[in-house]
Amino acid sequence: MTEWNIQPFLADDFHEVMGLWSATEGLGVGPGDSPEAIGRFLDRNPGLSLVARTDGAIIAAILCGHDGRRGFIYRLAVARAHRRRGLAAELVRRCIAGLAAEGIARCQVFVEADNQAAREFWAAMNGALRNDLVVFSIDLP
Ligand SMILES: CC(C)(COP(=O)(O)OP(=O)(O)OC[C@H]1O[C@@H](n2cnc3c(N)ncnc32)[C@H](O)[C@@H]1OP(=O)(O)O)[C@@H](O)C(=O)NCCC(=O)NCCS
Repeated sequence: MTEWNIQPFLADDFHEVMGLWSATEGLGVGPGDSPEAIGRFLDRNPGLSLVARTDGAIIAAILCGHDGRRGFIYRLAVARAHRRRGLAAELVRRCIAGLAAEGIARCQVFVEADNQAAREFWAAMNGALRNDLVVFSIDLP
């Protein structure tokens, strides 16, 4: 029997998902994480971001979108009690299928360098570690 229902992440889910993110280690919170910014992201990428529910409560979430050229996955989180059952892998598979259906050929994921669990997870998802890149950020006025 399936332990969870996977559904599109809707703007109305924001506060419940933020509760999950706040309780999750390894996720940096940045200026792109306001309800307005997340709502804009969801509007621009309809159906690609997902939540998983058990008994109506959100136990996992993933942000996924693209800019027409590259896909991006952000802020994947699974509640501790539901880990190591393949839920994150299923969310990622669905996101990748959604991006591929929109003609996207590569997806990038940003991981905090010291998040060893996430590094092992993404390696298990066939993610290629890019030792040839570093990330620069510019905060806008
Ligand atoms: C990383 C995370 C999303 C994994 O979720 P999950 O549902 O437990 O992952 P899955 O069960 O789908 O794992 C699939 C495979 O990834 C690898 N993996 C997952 N978690 C791992 C961990 N903590 N350590 C090592 N490998 C791990 C394993 O190979 C696993 O397969 P296995 O269980 O058969 O060994 C979850 O631990 C989490 O929410 N962590 C905190 C937030 C975070 O770091 N998010 C990633 C930011 S980019």
